[in-house]
Amino acid sequence: MIGVFDSGSGGLTVLKAIRARVPSIDVLYLGDIRNAPYGSKSRAELSRLTFAGMKRLIDGGASRIVSACNSASASLAVSLFDTSELAPDRLIEMVGPAASYFRHATARLALVATPATIESGVYQNAFAMLGKDVQAVAIPELAGAIEFGKDDAAIERVVRDALAPISKDSFNVLILACTHYPLVFETFRRVVGDGVLIFDPAEAVADRVENVWWPQEAGEGRTRFLITQDSAPFRRLVAEMFSEDAGAIEVVGPLA
Ligand code: DGL
Repeated sequence: MIGVFDSGSGGLTVLKAIRARVPSIDVLYLGDIRNAPYGSKSRAELSRLTFAGMKRLIDGGASRIVSACNSASASLAVSLFDTSELAPDRLIEMVGPAASYFRHATARLALVATPATIESGVYQNAFAMLGKDVQAVAIPELAGAIEFGKDDAAIERVVRDALAPISKDSFNVLILACTHYPLVFETFRRVVGDGVLIFDPAEAVADRVENVWWPQEAGEGRTRFLITQDSAPFRRLVAEMFSEDAGAIEVVGPLA
């Protein structure tokens, strides 16, 4: 069984992509809604919560983990592997697979993410190592607005305002480097228009899961959802996105 960790609903977009590739994988999903949004938290706080989240998943029986939270990626380096005794080949995070997807691309790249992700520089560093430029734009309130079910008009305003300062001609690929953002894919499409490719890193992560953990992780396609605070929007999304095979949703105690 694999674990999938996110601050809340964003990881559902990653779970959906994984399910499409490897339908019979068993998944324990953990959404830390009580502490969401993660994208405005400090590095120290993210490290503490990410470590606690990984531990909860391992204690729950997960033997491999997808950290489906870009904001947490900055805090995943080095110490996690020692402190949690999780071997590096048992963790897949978002940044590596997403950046390496563009290894041979000649596209003009822009990337949107939470302030925690942008300020950590993880994506900018990854692209710099590949010899690529990327325009990185933080959208401070967006993940929280999506998580807690703000209306579409308010969400579109936030996206438009965030992208207004960058010239539309300066990019032809927009990377959604927050797992919540594909939940409002159509809003991004309206704002950037048809000429821009909108890239969801979940595809690259699902590819990685299939390539490195398959068929070892073949199971029965079961999903169990753990959330640290009950949430009607989360329950609604699970029903919409996984209608036939939605698993049980359990509300569990705080992470840390
Ligand atoms: N979905 C997560 C990410 O990819 C966290 C967003 C948040 O909780 O602010 O960064």
